[in-house]
Amino acid sequence: MPNTPQFPADFTYVFEAFEVLESSLPTAGLDDLRPFYERMPLDPYITGKFRQRCFAHFIGPADQLRRLPHMQFVQSKRVNHLVGDVRREFAEIEDGFIAMPAVQTMVARFTTFMGIDPQTREIGVHQIRILCSPEFSGTPAPEGIHQDGFDYIGLFCVARHRIKGGTTRIYPARDQPPLFSRVLLPGEVVFANDRRVFHFADKVEPSDNAPGYWDLLVITA
Ligand SMILES: [Fe+2]
Repeated sequence: MPNTPQFPADFTYVFEAFEVLESSLPTAGLDDLRPFYERMPLDPYITGKFRQRCFAHFIGPADQLRRLPHMQFVQSKRVNHLVGDVRREFAEIEDGFIAMPAVQTMVARFTTFMGIDPQTREIGVHQIRILCSPEFSGTPAPEGIHQDGFDYIGLFCVARHRIKGGTTRIYPARDQPPLFSRVLLPGEVVFANDRRVFHFADKVEPSDNAPGYWDLLVITA
């Protein structure tokens, strides 16, 4: 797998030197995911209509993902001051989405990169679209610079359509300058150690006088 460092067995130690890594994915197949993003429901837990969202969790491997029973998504108040400790009920990701080769590629890339055993380690898959229009901007992270409350996260860019902004940023601490700032393009991913670094993404605005969107896949373990 090009561009992907191989972690030796002492993963935690090596990860100190590689808290944030970027690499790219082949973009083939990402366009096929658009219909699944189009029909997601709006996130009811934010003020405003700028985020659509589905969630599910699975046991792997990537090409044989087994959906685990539906559950509510809860983050602690410690990591999410806006909706921490709220039991959030998101629509399940569609079976057809998980069957898409591009999704399986992203899941496999995540588990391989993190060196986790997909047969035993549960992963969370968050399908997210951030919307914007001439009337409103989209705020990907209303909670500010944050952690998700997991060990590892992968932030995959699936699509950017008629937008500007949305720079993904990784921080060593909430009150320090970012270690990493980049507008992720479709097929690009940032892997982060969620216990050691914080993340954020700038607001998204239309690049033309028309609505736009940013499609993401966030994988957690
Ligand atoms: Fe996050």
